[in-house]
Amino acid sequence: MAPDETEKTVERVRSAFKHANRVFVITGAGVSAESGIRTFRGREGWWKNNDPAELASPEGFARNPRLVWEWYIHRIMIACDATPNPGHLAIAEMERRFDGFLLLTQNVDGLHQRAGNHAVHEIHGSIMRAREVDSGVVYPVEELDLNAEPPLKTSEGKPLRPDVVWFGEIIREKAVNAVNDFLAEGAPDVLLLVGTSAMFAYIQQWVMICRACGSMLVEVNPEPGQLAGLCDVVCMAKAGEVLPRFLTSP
Ligand code: OAD
Repeated sequence: MAPDETEKTVERVRSAFKHANRVFVITGAGVSAESGIRTFRGREGWWKNNDPAELASPEGFARNPRLVWEWYIHRIMIACDATPNPGHLAIAEMERRFDGFLLLTQNVDGLHQRAGNHAVHEIHGSIMRAREVDSGVVYPVEELDLNAEPPLKTSEGKPLRPDVVWFGEIIREKAVNAVNDFLAEGAPDVLLLVGTSAMFAYIQQWVMICRACGSMLVEVNPEPGQLAGLCDVVCMAKAGEVLPRFLTSP
């Protein structure tokens, strides 16, 4: 995108934000890319050379829990070493600034919380927690022994699994309800779609609902996805570079 074009799109969002009361933000892996966390799709993505059916499905876990845990431990360690980037920080500032604000993330890395967002609706769960396979009891990552031989277990030897949503599993009802409640309270002035390929029907549906309600739809993505055609503004740039600029004066 030419610098002039980016400038124009930034200015349009900035001006919408000046008058906005209700802002709905949906994030995906791209918002953490500048923190050094790999996305899933695309050239550098996990799914380029790995099979989601092996690494991120209940069947894959049943077949090879050791392999699945090795992958998650690797990702937990990367997430723990990463720091929130200016894109995360700008989204945290949005929560403070707008009266009505909702953040729905498909990310599992905990970086939104570490950036300062208080209410982070994690529709795919979090790798920063594990849960007992049988009882569902949840443990924060600080209570896990990541150096233990995988697959991880509790100190009593009960099998654990990452507290995430895998392919074929039901998305987090609490997060779905939070979005539905927020939308029922009134149309967002702005829907900001950041760093997601928006592959899932539930994400697409919320975008459609916001569009039907008259929200301004803004996508931030250096390689905009399939919903770009529905958006009022498409900012073809990195989240960390443009999100802070939406909130500042030129
Ligand atoms: P994807 O990997 O599908 O998409 C990441 C998007 O981020 C792409 O559209 C990139 O162009 C964009 N992107 C890359 N760098 C960016 C940057 N610096 N700023 C802004 N955008 C950038 O990730 P998701 O859409 O989050 O689910 O994927 C959704 C779900 O599919 C994930 O939660 C995961 C995956 O399989 C499960 O594991 C269940």
